[in-house]
Order: sequence, then structure tokens, then C-alpha cells
Amino acid sequence: MHARVVAATVAAVLGTAALLNPGAAARAGGVCEPAVIAHRGASGYAPENTLVSIDKAAQLGFSWVENDVQRTKDGELVVIHDDSLQRTTNVEQVFPGRAPWKVKDFTAAEIARLDAGSWYSPAYAGTRVPTLDQYMRRIEHNHEKLLLEIKNPELYPGIEQQTLKLLGDDGWLDHKHLGRLIVQSFSADSIRTVHELEPAVTTGYLGSPTVAWLHQYAGFTDLVNPPYGSLSKGYVAAVHAFDGPHGRPLEVFAWTVNDAATARKVAGYDVDGIITNKPDVVRAALGSD
Ligand code: G3P
Ligand code: CA
Repeated sequence: MHARVVAATVAAVLGTAALLNPGAAARAGGVCEPAVIAHRGASGYAPENTLVSIDKAAQLGFSWVENDVQRTKDGELVVIHDDSLQRTTNVEQVFPGRAPWKVKDFTAAEIARLDAGSWYSPAYAGTRVPTLDQYMRRIEHNHEKLLLEIKNPELYPGIEQQTLKLLGDDGWLDHKHLGRLIVQSFSADSIRTVHELEPAVTTGYLGSPTVAWLHQYAGFTDLVNPPYGSLSKGYVAAVHAFDGPHGRPLEVFAWTVNDAATARKVAGYDVDGIITNKPDVVRAALGSD
């Protein structure tokens, strides 16, 4: 039977627990196929963190996408990776006198004027920086699942509460949708805050805590998501040995894996997920294409 069909069958048998814990479904079924998460959308093929990037992920057949959330000067949550607009938009042309073009120094209306596609390819001219609200609606339309990164939370006091409020207003905190959402951050404080505000939400810490500290992280995070270069099979096993805040083994999603050889190597460490700009390359490498 096809590996993904096996995983789907196992998920059906395990029911809600598997829905909230996709890696556990694979392990319980003896199928060590990690989830594949399209990093900033399918950003190897479309401009990162845009609606077309998540459309592309869906077209390629992937349901999990990752993004980065920050906040504008007037308090709108937007989806963009850098703390500056410079690299991924034409902000230098549109607002030449406003270096260093920080996201937090521009209003949502100003950001909405920017082209977030031409830097990547002329074919994407006119693509916009999405608000988180627009992004979530497209996720819903595409029936996708979201690994949401709160980016640079130290720049945006209260962004955890604001993000959860938007998600709640859009229905994403309803029990039936919780398995489609993970909130992660490089900031342990931010993830702890998310867990305290909405304990039912699945959380992820971006980094590689030493094994001696994992018990602390297990109090507030369900996943430990390290850069792949820092990983070993022993470390993944050490993480799996701890139960997280929901009483399930901690999981590991590795980033950012864009070639077949590395995908196979990292899958061999028994990770639960691989975050990649090229999800089709990872899927093919894992033999599930
Ligand atoms: O999801 C992992 C990855 O997104 C973390 O790094 O810099 O791409 O946000 P970065
Ligand atoms: Ca990210």
C-alpha cells in the first residue's frame, strides 16, 4: 500500500489523537515518513510568504505550509519574513526616503501598495504582502494546515495575544481545527505565552535546546524544531523521550531541507517533519512520490 495511504488509514484508526499529532500517526503505523511542510509556502517556486506560494504548495499536493507573522505600524498582522520590507518588496522605489524600511514603521495601507513578487520573478509582478487575515482565508480555501511562526516577537509586544485573537475570530481555535495549526517561534518566552493563553494550541520551539534542558521546554512546547545541521539520531530520540504539555511525545520538525540527499539523511534520524522550500523534492527523495 502507498505510504501516504497507510498513514491516512492509521490516522483514521487513531482518530483525534492522530489528528493532533501527525508524526505519532506515522510512527504508530510503523511508517517513518515525516510530514513535509512547505517553508514560507512553496518558496522554491513562488515568492515566499505570499498567497501564490501557498496556492503553489496546494497545487503540488502539500497540505502543510509555514509562514512568518509580524505587525505593521498601525497594528495589522502581516505575513513576511524579514523585519525590513527591503529584500522581498519594491519598498525602496515606492518609499525611497524611509530606510531601513522596517515593517513596524509602515502602515498596512502603505504595505498593501508594495509589489512582493517582482523581486522573485517578473511573472509574479503585482503580488502583495498578505495580511494574516487574508492569508488564513486562503489557507481555509485551500484546505491547508499552518505552521505559523511568530517572527521577532520582541519587536511587537502583545503579538501572541493578537495572533490568537485573530485565529480565534476566524475559527482556528475550534476543537475541530486545532489539528491544522501549530504556532512556533525562536523565542521560548513567546511560545510559553501562547501556551499559557491558549493551552489547547499545539506549539513549537525553533532551536536545539540541550538535552539537559528539554524537560523545561516540555512544559510548554509540543515540538522542538531545529536546523537540520544540528541534528543527530540520538538527539531526536532524546526529544521523543519527553512528553509535551498535551501528554504526547515531543516531536521534531527539521529545517530547511532543500535537496534529496539531505532529506534522506534527516528522515533517517526519525524526525516527524521536514520543512522545505521544495516539498516535491523532499517527497520524491523519501520515496513517497
Ligand atoms: O520553520 C523553520 C524556519 O522558518 C525558521 O527559520 O528564518 O526561515 O524563519 P526562518
Ligand atoms: Ca519561518
